[in-house]
Amino acid sequence: MPASSLETIVSLCKRRGLVFPSSSVYGGLGSTWDYGPLGVELKNNVKRAWWRAVVHERDDMEGLDAAILMNRLVWKYSGHEATFSDPMTDCRACKARPRADHVFAAQKGRDPKGLVEINAAIAAKDLACPKCGSKDLTEARPFNLMFRTSVGPVDTGDESGLVYLRPETAQGIFVNFGNVLDTMRRKLPFGIAQVGKAFRNEITPGNFTFRTREFEQMEIEYFVRPGEDEAAHEMWIAERKKWYLDLGMRADNLRVREQEKHELAHYAKRCVDLEYLFPMGWSELEGIANRTDFDLKAHSRSPENPDAVGELHYFDPEQKKHYVPYVIEPSAGADRATLAFLCDAYADSLVKEPPAADTAKLRELVESFARSVGRREGMDADVKQRLQAAAEAIAAGLPATLPTLIGLMDDADANKIEVMKKVRGVGEKIAEEHTRTVLHLHPRLAPLTVAVFPLKRNEPRLVELARGIKGDLQRAGLRAVYDDTGAIGKLYRRQDEIGTPWCITVDFQSLEDKTVTLRDRDSMQQERAPLGEIGPTLLARLR
Ligand code: GAP
Repeated sequence: MPASSLETIVSLCKRRGLVFPSSSVYGGLGSTWDYGPLGVELKNNVKRAWWRAVVHERDDMEGLDAAILMNRLVWKYSGHEATFSDPMTDCRACKARPRADHVFAAQKGRDPKGLVEINAAIAAKDLACPKCGSKDLTEARPFNLMFRTSVGPVDTGDESGLVYLRPETAQGIFVNFGNVLDTMRRKLPFGIAQVGKAFRNEITPGNFTFRTREFEQMEIEYFVRPGEDEAAHEMWIAERKKWYLDLGMRADNLRVREQEKHELAHYAKRCVDLEYLFPMGWSELEGIANRTDFDLKAHSRSPENPDAVGELHYFDPEQKKHYVPYVIEPSAGADRATLAFLCDAYADSLVKEPPAADTAKLRELVESFARSVGRREGMDADVKQRLQAAAEAIAAGLPATLPTLIGLMDDADANKIEVMKKVRGVGEKIAEEHTRTVLHLHPRLAPLTVAVFPLKRNEPRLVELARGIKGDLQRAGLRAVYDDTGAIGKLYRRQDEIGTPWCITVDFQSLEDKTVTLRDRDSMQQERAPLGEIGPTLLARLR
């Protein structure tokens, strides 16, 4: 069963060292997350797989790592100072500050055409505060999403030291177009790829790592002759979709969506989103835009831009003329891609029936939870309805619905109900023994590639051989770990939960004939394999 809620993924990530709430010793900082020991491996693998596919495996791409802090003028001429903002309105009654375009879309059933239309609706008292229902809303104003800081030891207060934390990595690529072109002797078409942090003071961050204020982007700017842009756009849409599918993402969970005209950013002629079916619904994973010659022109010296030192153009040796290339931009989020791969890989299932008496006790508790939700005052009606419906369906379907109960036990709203403590007390123990949670991650993405166990940890010869195998695999280039902290069955389950594709068990036969048990995560098949073959076999499967 795939993850039915983000809570299930959040809980697994916290429990197994993938992602932790940031600064938790001080109560956290809303919507900021730290990648733990296994999470950093997973996210690094996502970024590595992207770099390999878009830089190393292509002949028409170069890499770049530009600074986060750039001259403020970059953001003036890119248009971000003037236009990178969300429209906000204030409710005079309850002091809430919702996004005015979201209020418009929710209440009118369509996106607004612009600030003017939003403000006309506010003035006509056509829009109501989503929190308290009052129609006493202020005129919507743009709220710039760029984080500001200042360079130099003294903040003069006159903005002379003002710099921004970059809200996209793309501009670092545009302003380096000439440097890369000249030093790498490139001809069109060619592209520049970059992975790096970006920062946006998002009004409504949320959904775990889906929307945060600090995140990482994996961006490509692919420069082409004007007129060849549309074909290049199609090429990149196909390439980027294939990348996710090649890394095991289920085709049913990935779709291509054409942005409508009014959704397009100020620089885009066309934009296509790759969307993933996250537990909260279809949402953007990556945008692939045709930015035309907007950015290179914007950063070139002209009457509109007297501050630029030169022109960012290209001399075409075949056409024997200078022109400004068009650019196709596949722009992905490393955190969003990591989250999508996690959601896609997650599966839990019932592996054996619990005793009937345990099931009956658990059913009683879940029914009691459903009744408590019904009686609860002050809880949002939607949340109440969702929890009650989930609990009733789980109670009716036990024990088959045990995996769904794991999701409910992780649900933050469900845990506001006192009875949930009792449900967890009984349910967690039964789930631990009778369900299996697996991350079916592509082996190239999995945080660990192979785990090696000795059948007995108090048998020095087994321990020595197992440690030696771990060292050999590590030296062969595989991410390998040694573990002897539990019975073999338990160790397999722990590795399944973090997505380790292979486990090796060293037993007494290994001492005799130099073979080990190689266990596959997905099929749970175990085969006897000669020691010398394991490294090459696993390396071949990783390719
Ligand atoms: N240079 C174009 C650009 O930045 P975007 O659609 O704003 O376009 C591209 O961002 C990608 O960056 C998104 O598809 C998403 O994967 C990621 N992204 C954007 N804002 C994000 C946020 N607040 N948190 C996490 N990822 C984000």
